[in-house]
Amino acid sequence: TEHKSSYPKPLWSEQQPNEWWNGAVASIKAVLHESSTKGHQIKAIGLTGQMHGLVALDSAGEVIRPAMLWNDQRTEAECQEITEKFGRERLLKVAGNSALTGFTLPKLLWVKNHEHENYNKIAQVLLPKDYLRFKLTDEYGTDLAGASGTLLLDVKERRWSEELINTFQFDPAWFPKCHEGTEITGSVSKSASKETGLAEGTPVVGGGGDQAAQAMGVGAINPGIVALTLGTSGVVFAPLEKYEFEPEGKLHAFCHALPNQWHFMAVMLSAAGSLQWFRETLAPDLSYREIDELAASSPVGAKGLIFLPYLTGERSSHPNPNARGGFIGLTAQHSKADMARAVLEGVAFGLADCFQLISKATTISEIRISGGGAKSPLWREIIANTLGHELNVVSVPEGAAYGAALLAGIGTGNLSDSEKLSSITGERSQPTEASERYQELHQLYQELYPALRESMNSLSRVL
Ligand code: XUL
Repeated sequence: TEHKSSYPKPLWSEQQPNEWWNGAVASIKAVLHESSTKGHQIKAIGLTGQMHGLVALDSAGEVIRPAMLWNDQRTEAECQEITEKFGRERLLKVAGNSALTGFTLPKLLWVKNHEHENYNKIAQVLLPKDYLRFKLTDEYGTDLAGASGTLLLDVKERRWSEELINTFQFDPAWFPKCHEGTEITGSVSKSASKETGLAEGTPVVGGGGDQAAQAMGVGAINPGIVALTLGTSGVVFAPLEKYEFEPEGKLHAFCHALPNQWHFMAVMLSAAGSLQWFRETLAPDLSYREIDELAASSPVGAKGLIFLPYLTGERSSHPNPNARGGFIGLTAQHSKADMARAVLEGVAFGLADCFQLISKATTISEIRISGGGAKSPLWREIIANTLGHELNVVSVPEGAAYGAALLAGIGTGNLSDSEKLSSITGERSQPTEASERYQELHQLYQELYPALRESMNSLSRVL
């Protein structure tokens, strides 16, 4: 269950883990009820959820402070501290990633630097979905795909990095046991059974961070098959057969949810999130479908209007928490329709930046698109044109939860290998004759961030 984030300060993002558990209990009950399923008919459970968040528990297993989420951007100073102390190259080699504001390690350091009392109470550090695992099974555990987003995992060796944990003087006992996505991590406890209606003893597997689980669900398991997820964030996910990291550190290198598999990933922070902002702020009376129709009435290029989608800072292409969004080229002739189109196009350009990074690092034979934003045929066409590549539209209404269920099925022997990739063919979105024009516009877009970066940094200091 995703609750609306509260932003007590610009670009802070926090939620209460206890509310997730209440939401999960309500959802489980609703699913059992609506599908007329009894708890004992459920053979296994897989977990998935947002990555990178920090849930800190005390020695009694109580939540110490609200969880800091994946898109929280307050840790710029801590990222510098990490890079200076551990070394940029060493960090890339061990953790597969550079120090990025949303990751868990910088958040833990932020609590150390700013909330001594809370820091001193920490006895356990969990990712959001692993808090649910704890509530369901009484076990502290995590999956390797999710743990990859903490910046504390030795991604090649698939275990916590002692070197990183020691460098930052954390207690190794704070970190839960790491499991493969298909491994059984525990079973539903008596009290969780009472609360949810699930049967006591139902096995719970590792599962995966939302992106790895989503990739499982769309069959992005073998190299070449790239998953594009158009959710709040926009994600390009490329499976790898062996561990590699990208020397510039712009791509994430993570464990995949299946044993012995890894992946590269490029993430833009506000993809469908940009459209959600547009709707809430500028078009509250319109449905998403109506916004699509409005955008379709504006021509390719929105009459020279470009939207920069860096509404919550940016990650992969421009790792900068101070990146800012904007409409560039706005004139008195522009209408709401042009602005709507510019938002769809700006997000497509941001995704094309991600694809450029991925295609430098690995080959792309097929792109499978999913996520809420992928329901828009216009948006898909714009993206196919900007990438100059066909999109295979995979409908996975359950999203990452479907991938988590596959992991549970495989891990408990309830699903065979052939079944696991069943639902992967979909409608195709092809590039049209406008593709060349989009690629020219993408080049224009690419000139804007470097030209505006310093102004964005200055603006971010105006509170
Ligand atoms: C992945 C990422 C998002 C979050 C929230 O790196 O930050 O996918 O997990 O969905």
